[in-house]
Amino acid sequence: MKNIVIFGAYSAIAEATARHLAPSGGRFFLVGRDSGKLDQVAADLKVRGATETHVFASDLAVPAGVLASIEALYGTFDTVDVALLAHGTLPDQKACEADAGQTLAAFEINGLSHIGLLTLLAERFETQGTGTIAVITSVSGDRGRQSNYVYGAAKRAVSTFLDGLRHRLAATSVQVIDIRPGFVDTPMTAAFDKGPLWASPDKVGADIARAIEKGRTVVYTPWFWRYIMLIIRNVPAFVFHKTKL
Ligand SMILES: NC(=O)c1ccc[n+]([C@@H]2O[C@H](COP(=O)([O-])OP(=O)(O)OC[C@H]3O[C@@H](n4cnc5c(N)ncnc54)[C@H](OP(=O)(O)O)[C@@H]3O)[C@@H](O)[C@H]2O)c1
Repeated sequence: MKNIVIFGAYSAIAEATARHLAPSGGRFFLVGRDSGKLDQVAADLKVRGATETHVFASDLAVPAGVLASIEALYGTFDTVDVALLAHGTLPDQKACEADAGQTLAAFEINGLSHIGLLTLLAERFETQGTGTIAVITSVSGDRGRQSNYVYGAAKRAVSTFLDGLRHRLAATSVQVIDIRPGFVDTPMTAAFDKGPLWASPDKVGADIARAIEKGRTVVYTPWFWRYIMLIIRNVPAFVFHKTKL
């Protein structure tokens, strides 16, 4: 029976992932800001096969919330088999350009909170020697673009942190997975027009659950984003800078 913690547990992608994990049983510890929404996810997972659910309301944008959630987690479970970090916001790039406070706030929730949680989790996972740490970053971290480089830079910081953590834990059986979704139709992207490159949270959640089961390292979801980003990373700057991407 696995002990599973999810930060940002009622994010559309996290919820879809948990629905794919729940049929194998498992004890879930769900963290998010709104306890009512956490309770709803917990009830749904119980129906789908979860053996136990615990919820903890916490604001992960502040260090005290990060510390409190880890304390509550290890007050409930002695060991954790799977940790999924799924919280985040999509900042308004233009507003960030005009206001350093908004840029720093975007880094707090999309970068620093993950780095804080990972620092605390890594110690525990290193001691236990097994388990899976999975973090939802983004294809946006692959190359800075004018339309969302604040968000992309925070995601990139987390991806680099995960590279280092994977290196540190290479001698153990701990898996460190960097999940990079492309466009996903969730509340975060409600304002965007949708097209053929868009995926459902269920499709992305299924990919994440499979990556956790198989112990992957860097996962693009849906798969074709690996090749799109390969091209975008390799477009020469003199061409790239003529685009409005
Ligand atoms: N949708 C996409 O196209 C896409 C693409 C690439 C990567 N991602 C990443 O995928 C992850 C999940 O996003 P999603 O698309 O599923 O969007 P979502 O449904 O809007 O989920 C985002 C979650 O983050 C939580 N959150 C925000 N600020 C928080 C805070 N201070 N403390 C605790 N929780 C907080 C939100 O809770 P509240 O409702 O309480 O704010 C919400 O549950 C995010 O890391 C996102 O960056 C999404």
